[in-house]
Amino acid sequence: MKEWTENHVKETLPQRMKSGHKGTYGTGLLLAGSKDMPGAALLSGLGAMRSGIGRLVIGTEEEVIPYVVPVLPESTYLRNGLKKAADGEVKTTEYKAIAAGPGLEPNEETEKAVQHLLQGDCPIILDAGALSERSYEMRKSPVILTPHPGEFARITGIEVAELQENRLHFASHWAKKIGAAIVLKGNGTVTAFPDGSAWTNPTGNSALAKGGTGDTLTGMMLGMLCCHKDWKHAVLNAVYLHGACADRWTENRSAHTMLAHELTDLLPEVWKEKE
Ligand code: APR
Ligand code: MG
Repeated sequence: MKEWTENHVKETLPQRMKSGHKGTYGTGLLLAGSKDMPGAALLSGLGAMRSGIGRLVIGTEEEVIPYVVPVLPESTYLRNGLKKAADGEVKTTEYKAIAAGPGLEPNEETEKAVQHLLQGDCPIILDAGALSERSYEMRKSPVILTPHPGEFARITGIEVAELQENRLHFASHWAKKIGAAIVLKGNGTVTAFPDGSAWTNPTGNSALAKGGTGDTLTGMMLGMLCCHKDWKHAVLNAVYLHGACADRWTENRSAHTMLAHELTDLLPEVWKEKE
């Protein structure tokens, strides 16, 4: 079992190029948030915009937009983005990377949207409502799934209790089988790639056991895909830094008290220490 250590992070975090402009880092599309879960769009949006992205487009329901704008005025929007994606109206070529799922229901419309997005060529992260039983073997560009154990059980049929006893084995087996990277979340997150390589993450703690922290991670990963050359490094560094922000929180604050958006408040200084 290999661990993605602080040294790996220091060796692989990209520098911001002196002559870089927003186009250098690219535009990410985030399909997230719905009427009952508007905050997911905000949390994942904050994660993305704090993680090296050039520009962010949030595809979300019209009613969600006014909640996001006051806190994240830097983002732009694809109004009713889920419906547009489901109708095949999203031009995937405009995006460097895509993330879908936080705050979305796993229903027919989400499934249709994901199927259309998968036809594009850029790396795609699927989380929460965008996760379902599928195979990605035919797709050339990276697919990254970010299930918690319950979601992993839903897409594979494995019982949670059995999964938790051998997380590395199941994540690796299914990553190879379906042709997607799997970030199996929870205490001791395991990341398995379809080529058979797999890494455990040493950071993070129970302060993360609270709604919204997974949405933040998905956003961070989207941002990191936009600024890293190697997509695998982007995935591993997002998981590492997300956990490291929680570790920074508990240095002098109770693990009971952290809010998901506070991860992105801590990220700038935690990231700086690893550059
Ligand atoms: N120790 C370390 N890390 C932990 C622990 C723990 N005890 N508990 C949770 N975590 C981490 C996980 O590794 C993961 O990174 O916190 C994060 C939790 O992610 P999720 O389980 O996905 O939770 P979250 O996404 O915040 O829950 C709300 O679920 O159903 C969806 O759409 C809904 O987006 C909404 C989301
Ligand atoms: Mg989640």
